[in-house]
Amino acid sequence: MSLLKWKISFLFFILVTSLFLLANLNNNILDKDFLLIAHRGASGCAPEHTMESYKLAKEMNADYLEIDLQISKDNTLVAMHDSTVDRTTNGTGRVDSLTIDELKKLDAGSWFDQSFNQSTIPTLEEVLDEFGHDVNYYIEVKAENGIEKLLLTLLDDYDLLDNYGQVIIQSFHVDSLKLINKLNKKIPLIQLGSIEDFSSKEKLEYISNYAIGIGLNYKDIDKNYTEEVKNHNLKLHPFIVNNTEDIELLIEMGVDGVFTDFLDAYTP
Ligand code: G3P
Ligand code: CA
Repeated sequence: MSLLKWKISFLFFILVTSLFLLANLNNNILDKDFLLIAHRGASGCAPEHTMESYKLAKEMNADYLEIDLQISKDNTLVAMHDSTVDRTTNGTGRVDSLTIDELKKLDAGSWFDQSFNQSTIPTLEEVLDEFGHDVNYYIEVKAENGIEKLLLTLLDDYDLLDNYGQVIIQSFHVDSLKLINKLNKKIPLIQLGSIEDFSSKEKLEYISNYAIGIGLNYKDIDKNYTEEVKNHNLKLHPFIVNNTEDIELLIEMGVDGVFTDFLDAYTP
């Protein structure tokens, strides 16, 4: 091959490599201007925290599937908001007093609508098996029940921690988030709380040491507050915003995403 051909091939290689790197740099979901987070799945249209709710959320193009976690008596992580099964299943009792076999026998859909009477409580592993790398996960560590290490091990087993932003972990519990941050500095964390928890520059400064953003009730924020949060280089993901007008108002204020039960309330 002539020297000229070598040079052209080399330049072509550099060009392709640069384009590839550029494409991957822009591939970070957290760089999107606005994120639609499927609160407990598409929970306005299907029973929360069921596979049906998550499948629908994916079909409706949610940027993230939100999953609250509880743990069974025999240490299996399950998708469930409450610490008891009473509200969302036909059973009774605390989740952590029931084995996974007992939890899997419960009807987790009829309370929402009879047509969902085959829905069950999914384990986190079932959700990860179903969706793998095809979706992004916004996982909430619900209680101070020591699930942090178990959760990180599971996410690592599924290779979900390499692609920054594919998993966000959120919690109302500062200690949980700080422990996760200690175990793995690369996982983006969201501190949940009330406006009182995030009311001063000092508090925002403190949070920015371990989290990339905050989540709070959307009714408590305005444009000035949003700017203050941004000044601390924190993202703002308010909850739970279920109508189009409010979502559009929040976008105008400059929030980075919202948790919603109704993903069709906003079309980008
Ligand atoms: O993470 C936002 C939101 O999910 C917190 O509220 O009660 O629905 O878990 P909750
Ligand atoms: Ca939640």
